[in-house]
Amino acid sequence: MGRTEINIVLLGLGVVGGGVARALQEKAEAYAEQAGLPLVLRRVLVRDPSKPRPISLDDGLMTADPDEALDADADIIVELMGGETPALDYIERSLKSGRHVVTANKEVVSKHWLRLHSAARDAGVEMHYEASVGGGIPIISPLKRDLAANEIIGIRAIINGTTNYILTRMAAEGVDFGDALRQAQELGYAEADPANDIEGQDSVYKLSILASLAFRTFISPDDIYREGITQLHARDFKYAAELGYIIKLLAVAKREQGGVRARVHPALLAKDELLARVDGVLNAVQVEGDLVGKVLFQGPGAGSEATASAVMADVLEAAKAIRSGEPTTPQDRSSGLAAEPISKLVSRYYVRIEVMDRPGVLAVIARSLGDHGVSIASVIQKETDEEGQTAELVIMTHGAREDSMQSSIKQIGGLPEVSEIGSVIRVED
Ligand code: NAP
Ligand code: HSE
Repeated sequence: MGRTEINIVLLGLGVVGGGVARALQEKAEAYAEQAGLPLVLRRVLVRDPSKPRPISLDDGLMTADPDEALDADADIIVELMGGETPALDYIERSLKSGRHVVTANKEVVSKHWLRLHSAARDAGVEMHYEASVGGGIPIISPLKRDLAANEIIGIRAIINGTTNYILTRMAAEGVDFGDALRQAQELGYAEADPANDIEGQDSVYKLSILASLAFRTFISPDDIYREGITQLHARDFKYAAELGYIIKLLAVAKREQGGVRARVHPALLAKDELLARVDGVLNAVQVEGDLVGKVLFQGPGAGSEATASAVMADVLEAAKAIRSGEPTTPQDRSSGLAAEPISKLVSRYYVRIEVMDRPGVLAVIARSLGDHGVSIASVIQKETDEEGQTAELVIMTHGAREDSMQSSIKQIGGLPEVSEIGSVIRVED
């Protein structure tokens, strides 16, 4: 007898899981038409089934027993619990038992990319993860399909809503990092423990996924250079603006020096760049291909309904494949490109230094930069503290190598004439 429905098990009924369950209830007819068969929710795994929920489900659907959920009669397992364990185990177990998996879990997908893709391939099923990067923004599918005819040259992205909200507030209102973070938490954008957001780790996981797809080679989160936004000061935003720049936490991956260099760090972006105008909790991913040129994908990077939109697109795709019995997509051959270290990056830099306000200090700093092959483009003396006899210098350099720049900064930081290296921020040209 032919199949009469597509059975779904949901692991997690929080912000995203709740949105998915609601969409499955409210759009059941439309989804049945699209998939060619009704999508039926068979089990929902949660930690605490007695917790009050904003959605009501049929009796007996909810369980706290993972075996009951994972052994249920399911065609598609939708993992929306988050965290590495036990999600990794549940995803792998589902793939190995021949079920298609849909997940929004960037940590698990990025850290266990090879292992999970290989489990899916061996079982002849697919792992879908559109919601793992950029929430509701379609970016995984375009990289796999619509941009497939291109050699990807680079990706530049703002893929963390919490940090983009904080940086937007710091730039627009001159508030300090701590105040902006508190506001982000009050508004529910930041996690209770926002460390992964503000230290750039969340962006690293997402960039690992984007870069691995774009360059057809596994770029592990461990291969990605990371700097968060906690060291930025309100006056960096003021000085950057005076120089014609906006500061953003950028995730960048480029084909460079025979490999792929991937990095997440705050960067100065010229004000007229499209990415510089992506504000608040919005996310955006700019992809440059050799045929298409630059394309920008922008939209809500988080939230219940927006993320459910991406999850449900994956569910519908999996459902159509199950119904048609189509073979799953074979994985592309690896490009063999290797990850390049940050040390050989060539970039311009913005440097803010607090120095003793006396003759000859600038010459000492210029000598150190010059000795390391770093050429100065401009120097501006900002605030002067007459009582403390200190001054603040803002130096913009020409293109220089990262390792040379860091050696020079280390030397400058140890000079008796220098009280503090305030900030060193790369300029993204
Ligand atoms: P959440 O609100 O914290 O919900 C997590 C759900 O999973 C809860 O229902 C929880 O059960 C359940 N759960 C967690 N650990 C479990 C365990 N060990 N056993 C059984 N159930 C467990 O998380 P979320 O914000 O929806 O995020 C889910 C995933 O989507 C994460 O991977 C996240 O990175 C990703 N994501 C989220 C967003 C967003 O806007 N929130 C956007 C893009 C991607 P209880 O309800 O009983 O506690
Ligand atoms: N904490 C993430 C963010 C949620 O702020 O973008 C979406 O992955």
